[in-house]
Amino acid sequence: MTLEQWTNVDTYMQQHVAPEANELDWVLQANAAGELPQIDVSPNQGKFLQLLIRITSAKRVLEIGTLGAYSTIWMARGLPEGGHITTLELEESHAVIAQANLDQAGVSHRVKLIQGPAVESLHKLIESETAPYDFVFVDADKPNNPNYFELALKLTRPGSTIVFDNVVRDGEVVDASSNDDSVQGTRQFFDLAAQTPNVTWAAQQTVSSKGYDGFAIGFVTA
Ligand code: SAH
Ligand code: DHB
Ligand code: MG
Repeated sequence: MTLEQWTNVDTYMQQHVAPEANELDWVLQANAAGELPQIDVSPNQGKFLQLLIRITSAKRVLEIGTLGAYSTIWMARGLPEGGHITTLELEESHAVIAQANLDQAGVSHRVKLIQGPAVESLHKLIESETAPYDFVFVDADKPNNPNYFELALKLTRPGSTIVFDNVVRDGEVVDASSNDDSVQGTRQFFDLAAQTPNVTWAAQQTVSSKGYDGFAIGFVTA
């Protein structure tokens, strides 16, 4: 099995189940023109996030790691009337392109982009006693994943959903002696998940046009 095969199958499925992804190609083109790293969710993954939003009837969404807002736009298009996304991004250059894309996509009225280190932004959201989020998508710097999990728990309620991207990383997640901070951050996240009785999880390995990776989905129960 090769990346070429995974990409062919991903494209085949996307053309059948998510043809509307073609309408969002301009976002990826704008991101490439702005020299952003090409680590957006894949089109099928964007559709998957959008369906999770709809399946869970989420109205208030928190995203950690905006990049060029490709995932944000997919999720925004799954929100009901009155729905809202808060998305957090460290890099100003990414935030500028993301905001232009959100404007162009016609969803900026339902998205608030906060630029700065996400841990700080999350603390500010907690201090401001913002209403709990129904759905959290964590997709930023992986060494902070344990922090993002703990802070997300303060911003959610029983019944909320928390999704972590990139929890497999070519299978490196099982390498306890890895020197990669991202792998260690993900391993610390899994340890924390195992010790948190009020969140129940499923984690899936995936192959796609982005290679071999995976995601974890948590449901806050109490
Ligand atoms: N969710 C996006 C991809 C995000 S890539 C999509 O699928 O389209 C990860 C992003 O997290 C990058 O833009 C990076 O700048 C941002 N990031 C890295 N460290 C961060 C931090 N400490 N706080 C907030 N954002 C951070
Ligand atoms: C990387 C980050 C991501 O969020 C992703 O989906 C793929 C790759 C990275 O930092 O390499
Ligand atoms: Mg990711």
